[in-house]
Amino acid sequence: MTPASVETFHYDPFAPDVMADPLPFYKVLRDEFPAYFIDEYEAWAISRFEDVWTILNDTEGHITSTEGTMMFREQLRVSNGGVVPEASYDPLTVLSYTESPVHEELRQAVGPPLRRSAVLRLEELIRSMARARLDELIPRGRFNVTSEYGGIVAAGTMCHMFGIPLSDAEMVRDAVLVCDPSVQDVAAQGVAYGQLTDLVTDVVRKRRAAGADGRYPLVDGLLTFRLNGRALTDEEISGSVLATILFGGAETLPKVVAHGLMELWRDPDQRRQVAADPTNCATAFEEMLRFCAPAQWFTRTVKKPIVIAGQELGVGHRIFPLLMAGNRDEREFEDPDRFVWDRPIRRHLAFGQGQGFCIGNHVARLEGRILLEELLARVPEYEIDVDHAERPPSSFQWGWRTVPMIVG
Ligand code: HEM
Repeated sequence: MTPASVETFHYDPFAPDVMADPLPFYKVLRDEFPAYFIDEYEAWAISRFEDVWTILNDTEGHITSTEGTMMFREQLRVSNGGVVPEASYDPLTVLSYTESPVHEELRQAVGPPLRRSAVLRLEELIRSMARARLDELIPRGRFNVTSEYGGIVAAGTMCHMFGIPLSDAEMVRDAVLVCDPSVQDVAAQGVAYGQLTDLVTDVVRKRRAAGADGRYPLVDGLLTFRLNGRALTDEEISGSVLATILFGGAETLPKVVAHGLMELWRDPDQRRQVAADPTNCATAFEEMLRFCAPAQWFTRTVKKPIVIAGQELGVGHRIFPLLMAGNRDEREFEDPDRFVWDRPIRRHLAFGQGQGFCIGNHVARLEGRILLEELLARVPEYEIDVDHAERPPSSFQWGWRTVPMIVG
């Protein structure tokens, strides 16, 4: 269903018609209500590129994430009464919910293996995983690009970085998929989340026992880190920091690649152009990020009043910076609802912005490029069974979970 007239327009990120397809709602929001107040959640939906950019880049303490970056309905329905909670540092809250300077310190503790130069050293490993997947998938003639190609490679990369055996990649991928809010199976999600945290906690214990000698810097960096002079517990390291990285690393990338390959299938000319030269894949992946990145928003809370799109956002109000709405803003991108593999992209919002900017962006860009290069080299012509592709309704991660590809 598309939005009714402007007079009766109502936007709620959790409404079934919005979760099925938010794009028409974003257009009305951008054009008519660039700062739209949702009474029920005391929240502002911000939809224009420039405004989302401004909010996420705030460095003057107007905006915080101490209430959480993934606030869902139950939490939003409880007013904070204009009192913004402080971040908890003992025990440590989730990485993304911390504030400066702790947030930067934690990012620095895990940062070295995620920097561009370190990430580029993963190229051979990622390429060999992509090739091994294709060796297995192509002879089958039909496979789900999201989970069976990108899903395994993304989970495998995370396993490698964490020191988890690659044989666990399938389990990691499946557990992350089940935890997607659109699955709505609380019991299965509890089990899957438990499996993942047990796996990560086990890694932390082993690295502590091994003396955190720097062999697995993602984990070891947190074991040697001191938060206001104290060491973090195993549970803090795994639950508050590493689990976020594992989820971030395994969840989104496969959906972006699969959706991007679907867009190239829809437009054979573009597909041929990209496949003609492997160096085109990095450029095409950037457009895939803009066009396909499934996260709709990450919430924030107003800490000091700020004026956005002519409206004063008051203390305690929640904010939905609508990333996909911004990435489809005609004020920033020409013909934004068209996928154009080589469009000039000065900036986009797929990785967020500012303090919470995706720390895994180099990993994602490397994986995206390699997955495209390897697939298009082996299968420059393919079909997508679009009738059996699935993009479950979601307020948050509106992504293609199933993209059946037919080859040969
Ligand atoms: C195409 C793939 C990816 C996309 C589109 C994506 C998107 C995002 C976005 C939009 C944010 C900002 C959240 C916010 O503002 O609150 C974010 C943060 C984050 N991402 Fe990614 N991500 C991707 C891949 C990855 C990978 C591969 C990793 C891990 C290696 C990762 C780890 C994280 C972490 C840990 C954060 C939180 C950063 C912080 O709070 O400081 N992501 N990601």
